[in-house]
Amino acid sequence: MNPSVCKISFLFLIIFSCFDPSYANHNGFDAIFQFGDSLSDTGNFLIANADSSPNMGHPPYGITFFGHPTGRLSDGRIIVDFIAEAFGLPLLPPFLSGDDQSFSKGASFAVSSATALDVSFFQERGVGLGTNLSLSVQLEWFQRLIPSLCNTTRGCKKYWRKSLFMVGEIGGNDYLGPWAFNMQTEQQVTAYVPTVVEAIKNATEKLIELGAVNLVVPGNPPSGCFASILTLLNGTRAEELEPGTGCLRRANDLIRYHNRLLRRAVEELRKEHPHARIGYADFYTPIIEFAKDPEAFGFSYRPKLNACCGGEGPYHFDVRALCGQPGSSACPEPSAAIDWDGWHATEATYHRIADSWLHGPFADPPILRLRKH
Ligand SMILES: *[C@@H]1O[C@H](CO)[C@@H](O)[C@H](O)[C@H]1NC(C)=O
Ligand SMILES: *[C@@H]1O[C@H](CO)[C@@H](O)[C@H](O)[C@H]1NC(C)=O
Ligand SMILES: *[C@@H]1O[C@H](CO)[C@@H](O)[C@H](O)[C@H]1NC(C)=O
Ligand SMILES: *[C@@H]1O[C@H](CO)[C@@H](O)[C@H](O)[C@H]1NC(C)=O
Repeated sequence: MNPSVCKISFLFLIIFSCFDPSYANHNGFDAIFQFGDSLSDTGNFLIANADSSPNMGHPPYGITFFGHPTGRLSDGRIIVDFIAEAFGLPLLPPFLSGDDQSFSKGASFAVSSATALDVSFFQERGVGLGTNLSLSVQLEWFQRLIPSLCNTTRGCKKYWRKSLFMVGEIGGNDYLGPWAFNMQTEQQVTAYVPTVVEAIKNATEKLIELGAVNLVVPGNPPSGCFASILTLLNGTRAEELEPGTGCLRRANDLIRYHNRLLRRAVEELRKEHPHARIGYADFYTPIIEFAKDPEAFGFSYRPKLNACCGGEGPYHFDVRALCGQPGSSACPEPSAAIDWDGWHATEATYHRIADSWLHGPFADPPILRLRKH
């Protein structure tokens, strides 16, 4: 609704007038900057790895909304797309897509496979990674971009006041790659958690130093509910699964530990930077709720934790036939499924999570109320 529509509706029905636009006008954002991994990559990995023709560059990625692959790891839009739409902003272009001038309304710096910790941390441990474009590299990209966004102290202050920074989700790859593919044990990856959380805290702090005042730090989703993890970490033994959800207990234990420390870090940041508004977004609970009672949220695909798109396997997941690769197939109705490709969710799942972050209850505060007047 634009202001003139508000005025017209005001004449007819005061209750209806400007309910949504009041957010857009007073609490809205003019730009969104997203950091993270495949859960918020809008195309960077695909651009950086175009030569190797990665699976997300092939149909049926993108089929539900865009009609073609965009580099997003879903059948359609991802969470930050719905956040951008809620503020009337264009869907975030991937940073690697263009020259600096096109990013005044925001950009996604997120790269699929990215870690919160630098590559050197994993190299020292003999762990190979899918990308070296880690969180600190993404921050360097952003820092390089700043002069094209605002030039004067006054101009920047004004611009940052109306910019939203999404610091994650990030960190999942620091655990899951080493655990599922590199023979690291549960104990080894659990020991990374405090360092990973510190890296996310440091990155958030760095953004505040650079001027950010509105930030949201999302936690990690329950990877024990992913078809990939259930397959790769052998979650087919009943006693290893959580009753109710069917998710792999030890993977979710690890993620809950991460999220607990991250929430604590966010509380510390709020105390240390009282002028900033720092939200925490819960990526864990909504997916647990969907897994407990999929029907209640409109998910009718069965078995409920199976990937919609993938190869043959107990969870419709096979590392040798990933979604988009030969030998894989997609379910006829992605919007009925929670899990898209074994690692990432469907647009339908992301839409519901985005709504719960924008309006509550799964973000503290809800993103629509984050910015001060
Ligand atoms: C990442 O690796 C590529 C090739 O392996 C290299 O060209 C590039 O400079 C590296 N980037 C960073 C930020 O380390
Ligand atoms: C900042 O200054 C540079 C060089 O003078 C100019 O090209 C650019 O458009 C300016 N950016 C903004 C946001 O004013
Ligand atoms: C976080 O920042 C502190 C202070 O600069 C530094 O000592 C620490 O090594 C950083 N931690 C990580 C994981 O980057
Ligand atoms: C999973 O099962 C396969 C064979 O069924 C076995 O080779 C592998 O070691 C198991 N992995 C784990 C993490 O238990």
